[in-house]
Parts: sequence; C-alpha cells; structure tokens
Amino acid sequence: MSAIVESSTAGSFDEPAPSALLLLGQGRDLFSERGVECIGALPAASDPDLVERARGARAALGERAFILGHHYQRDEIIQFADVSGDSFKLARDAAARPDAEFIIFCGVHFMAESADILTSDRQRVILPDLAAGCSMADMAAINQVEDAWDVLTDAGVADKTIPVTYMNSTAAIKAFTGRHGGTVCTSSNAEVAMRWAFDQVGGRDGTGKVLFLPDQHLGRNTAVLSLGLSLDECVVFDPHRPDGGLSREQLTAARVILWRGHCSVHGRFSARNVSDIRERVPGVRVLVHPECKHEVVTAADEVGSTEYIVRALAAAEPGSAWAIGTELNLVRRLAAKNPDKTVHYLDSTVCFCSTMNRIDLPHLVWVMESLVEGHVVNQIVVDPDEAHWARVALDQMLALPGY
Ligand code: 13P
Ligand code: SF4
Repeated sequence: MSAIVESSTAGSFDEPAPSALLLLGQGRDLFSERGVECIGALPAASDPDLVERARGARAALGERAFILGHHYQRDEIIQFADVSGDSFKLARDAAARPDAEFIIFCGVHFMAESADILTSDRQRVILPDLAAGCSMADMAAINQVEDAWDVLTDAGVADKTIPVTYMNSTAAIKAFTGRHGGTVCTSSNAEVAMRWAFDQVGGRDGTGKVLFLPDQHLGRNTAVLSLGLSLDECVVFDPHRPDGGLSREQLTAARVILWRGHCSVHGRFSARNVSDIRERVPGVRVLVHPECKHEVVTAADEVGSTEYIVRALAAAEPGSAWAIGTELNLVRRLAAKNPDKTVHYLDSTVCFCSTMNRIDLPHLVWVMESLVEGHVVNQIVVDPDEAHWARVALDQMLALPGY
C-alpha cells in the first residue's frame, strides 16, 4: 500500500540568508528574477470546466505548442506536460524541439530563460505565471557577482578561478560565467562540471580554483563528496559582507569559493530529520537532493538530482521504505507511482516550493487560450548580449563529457 508519511520533527532553518522577495502582483523588480503582474482575466480555480478548457486549448494548439513540466510542478500541471524532468533534461528537451512555435515552460523563471537562450529566435518561450521565480537565484545578483570578481582580482586569484554556475541562476549570472570561461551545471552534472573547471586551471591538485554560484550546498557537497576535497578547502563568499567576509589569505588558500546562497526548500531539511526517521522506520533508506546541507547529505544513504530520485524509486525493491528529502509535489507523486513501496517525507513541515506552485491550472489555461486567440502573453525574452554569453556557458555544459 503506497503511503506518504511525514516525520515528527519540525525542520530547523538555522542559516538565515537574504532573499529578495517581490510582493506578488503589480510591478517589476529589476534586481530579482521575479516578474510582473499577470494581465488579463485568469479563470477561477473553482471553474468546474477548467480541465475541459485546458484540454480544448491544448488540442487547438496542437504541434504549435510544446509543454514542459519540472518535476516539482503540481499534478494538475504535469497531466498536461508533453515531457517532465529535472532542469537539465528540460533544457535539452526544449532545445530539441525546433518546430514548436511556443514552448510553454511550467517551471520557474530561470528555466524559461535558459529555454529562450537555447531555442531559436522564431520560438516563443512562455512562463504561465511571471511571479514563478526562485529565491536561490535571487541570492546572486549580477552586481554582487561583479563586485565579488573584483575582490578576487584584487586578491590576485581571479586569473586562476573558473566560475561554475548552477542552472538555478539568472541569465545575467550565466552570461558572467560565459564571459569568464566557465560553465553552467545542474544537480545531475555538477561533478563533471567541477572536474572540467579544475582541468581548465591546472588540475585540482594545482593552484586553480572554482567559484561556485549560487548554491553553496550543491557546491560543497560536490567538492567534498565527489571530488574528495576537504571542507577546509571550501570557503563561503558572503556578498553582504565587505570582501565577502574573506581575507586575501583565505581566498589564496581556498580551492572552492562557494557563493552564500541556498534553496529555501531543501535548506529546511536537517540531520535531526534523518535520525528521527531512522528511529521511527527501521531499515528506511534516506535519499536526498544535493541542494540539502552537507550534514544532511552525509547522514543520508543516497544523494541525487530529481531525475536520480525518480529512477532510484522506480528501481527500488518492492516492500522497501524510503524517506525522500526534496520538494513535496514530487515526493507525493513518487508515493502514488510506487504503490509497492512506502515513501516517507523527510520533514514534517511543508516543503512545497512556493514559486514552483505559482504555476497552476488557471494560469496554464489562461496562457493556452490566449495563444489560441493569437495573443502571446508572459513571453520570456533574454537580452541578446546576455543571451549570447549565457549560451556560451550553457553550450559548455552541454558539451561536458558524458552529457
Ligand atoms: P534539478 O531539477 O536540477 O534536480 O534541481 C532541483 C531544483 O531545485 C529545481 O529548481
Ligand atoms: Fe529555487 Fe529551491 Fe524552488 Fe528550486 S526548489 S525553484 S532551487 S527555491
């Protein structure tokens, strides 16, 4: 019997970090990847004809539209997605559909930006709700990252440093990475990306460094658990402190400079959650996403991207028990799709991604019906110069060995 069970201990959130939250509704925050108001009339969520309207609009658009759904999207959206996947798979899927006039991206803003960069100028990428941003991406603003590079330059380490930027970042940060000879990575290929980056600056036993943006946890987990570096070889650059809060000596000694950003969903899981679930469910296997804190990842049995988590559950022994540390929409769907296993949620507090959840059926119906009527709404367009350099970094990722 499938079950999703929540653990009994509230997760701690012991690492406050600034995030730029735009009040939803009117206006535009130019310093954030969050967007603008929704124009036009959204269907009411209670509209009993909503599913029928979605089916009708989808059929009317036919091959002209391709709908992508990230694993963290609601079920009501996933049922209309032509493909679902993690951010890496969706970036590739978007690039592989040159004939689709409209790419409707059910995910968050940075994913739609990447799709716009990877698709042709003829194609329009649409994000059903422009308020679907990402608090992690907002933690690295381009002016902060440019300032940080100046700090590295003054410390004499910039020419030995390659930026590696997680997909969960604005196009401006990806463009910065392209300009400085770096690469984008996702949670599925962070290890390959970091190894590649060290190879560009003399191998990881030399003096080369990686600047990892913006998720400190993915960067640390990759450097320590996959590349075998020590925790002491990683330093955290805090953009809200003078010189990142680091001395010249610390920057010189560091191998990996981690940006002080994190995911507000995965950052909630704690090592206590892991010990609690082990106590309550003997034999449970704990599987977490690499955006979780290092102490959570080291306490878990397995770590992997959302695609990895989906595959691991599908391949698991019938009757086995799992505790999953990632976004709740995905974990609930895994529980439903794996009725022969017991799936526990690692934390007792709600861990939906609030911005992923902005995309709901009313918004999807609204964009599809608008397209049917000939109105392109909520199009994501990346500035051409930014798109050029971001594409350099994205293409570098797509060219990494094994991908
Ligand atoms: P992946 O899709 O790369 O696993 O990342 C998870 C995530 O947080 C997306 O926003
Ligand atoms: Fe951003 Fe985390 Fe939500 Fe992903 S799950 S979109 S990283 S806040």
